[in-house]
Amino acid sequence: MDNSTQQQISLVERDYFLCRLSDLDELQSIELEIDERKLFAIREDNQLYAYWNSCPHMGIPLNWMPGKFLDLDGALLQCSAHGALFQIDNGECIGGPCVGDHLSKIVLRQQDDQYFIAADQPLPAPLVNLRAAALRDLD
Ligand code: FES
Repeated sequence: MDNSTQQQISLVERDYFLCRLSDLDELQSIELEIDERKLFAIREDNQLYAYWNSCPHMGIPLNWMPGKFLDLDGALLQCSAHGALFQIDNGECIGGPCVGDHLSKIVLRQQDDQYFIAADQPLPAPLVNLRAAALRDLD
């Protein structure tokens, strides 16, 4: 990797407290924002899985309401825009327009019952603002 590429990669500056596992019920999620990047975590089978909240199809948030990430069966993560379905434990898209792509998993640091967003992992690109992009296209 050359120096110009390295300068473009932003990293999570420090550990950010996310939650205690006991704060969440089974399949309950929590959202957080770090440096204008949205993320969410969901509890399944006493594990916590965290992803940047950006659909690989179009780079927009998955949910249309706070904390609502699951499909009707409550078994998969679902993007509200075009219905892509993702496995909770690995973020793989198994249905919809981006099959085979993955949500970007976040590295967590666990300390007893507490989970933190681990420092020094790459920040994703900022979310696409479709409204602003559409307004720019009108100019
Ligand atoms: S933006 Fe998520 S499925 Fe299209």
